[in-house]
Amino acid sequence: MPKILKFPPDFLWGASTSAHQVEGGNRNDWSEWEKSEGRRKKLEESGLNPEDFISGKACDSYNRYEEDFDLCVAMNNNVHRLGADWARIMPEKGKIDTKEIEHYRKVFEALKKRKLKIVFTLWHWPFPLWISSRGGWTNKKTIKYFARYADVMSREFGEYVDYWVTLNEPMIHAGHGYIDGKFPPHKKNDYIGAMRVISNLICAHKESYKIIKKNCPGAQIGITMVTGYFEPNIKWHLMDVVAAKIGNYFRNNWFQGRVKGYFDFIGVNYYHHVRLSCIPPFVRNENKLVSDFGWEIYPEGIYHVLKGYAKYKKPILILENGVADAKDQYRKDFIVDHLKWVHKAISEGVDVRGYFHWSLLDNFEWADGYGMKFGLHAVDRKTFKRTPRPSAKVYAEICERNGVEIN
Ligand code: FCB
Repeated sequence: MPKILKFPPDFLWGASTSAHQVEGGNRNDWSEWEKSEGRRKKLEESGLNPEDFISGKACDSYNRYEEDFDLCVAMNNNVHRLGADWARIMPEKGKIDTKEIEHYRKVFEALKKRKLKIVFTLWHWPFPLWISSRGGWTNKKTIKYFARYADVMSREFGEYVDYWVTLNEPMIHAGHGYIDGKFPPHKKNDYIGAMRVISNLICAHKESYKIIKKNCPGAQIGITMVTGYFEPNIKWHLMDVVAAKIGNYFRNNWFQGRVKGYFDFIGVNYYHHVRLSCIPPFVRNENKLVSDFGWEIYPEGIYHVLKGYAKYKKPILILENGVADAKDQYRKDFIVDHLKWVHKAISEGVDVRGYFHWSLLDNFEWADGYGMKFGLHAVDRKTFKRTPRPSAKVYAEICERNGVEIN
């Protein structure tokens, strides 16, 4: 007899997107880099088509947001996570684009009309050009500009937003932007730059937290962290144990710990498991099952990450969890298996309030372009037609019954 693992009443079920990855027509530091000659040349030299790495019209969600939200409703979601593009709101120094404010107002209205709660991300990586040209987060003044952005958005949209996410995965921006050079501004081994970025991001979060709270006293505000479950390769090997502890600390707790007192919930993005050894090769994942991205599928890891965050005694929202899977061969089990572990964490007292699948749609996967398909819905790159994948149906059933069926 199949058994249903029930989730708490009022559990939030949703899917996530980010502005730059779905809106289309954005003009920011990412869009300019994507189109640059240097980028094109490098891609061509590697035998790749540069057009597949330009966000361009993305999913055209800037125009098709109503259609997107209908997909959320069709999946029985009761919440949606989306973001704004900072560059649309503040395209030039000192300028607020009221047309774009009105655009986002319509977006929020469309969500409310469908009775979807709103998780809203202020910064999901791209910068307005006038900020990136002034050094992005290496420049202390960016804190002030971000605080102004948070002020405008919370004054305008406080009545709509249920959960504010100030920053998406700050450590990823620092790591890919300043250490391995994969993301703009493409600095390599710039450890001082990365530290400056992290320290300014911490201040920016705290400042914007205070401002949003002032404008909307009941607001729930947090950061969403890129998390990972690091475990020792050999469980009894002291050095492996120490290595895993260091991994968990830096990935999951370092940033979060430095903003203590300035968050009302913890956002968890879970994709990665790392089995660590103290001798090379350091990473010893078994990789029995991997996504199209080559990331190991390891559902148990989410349980350990959630247990690790319980110590903060704050509600937790899983704001991203998903798999690059063009054939939709793993996604159904991926969702069910991760949710089983989430359920276990909840049954042991961890205060998890919601699960958001990444992503509602196939979208622009940053430096990896359009090749990686994370969507519960496929998107035709020419017509932008959305087609539900079979896993969307499975997710819809889970959301409807507020539970996962297990055999
Ligand atoms: C996360 C990002 C998100 C998406 C997924 C696959 O790190 O926050 O935008 O790219 O990875």
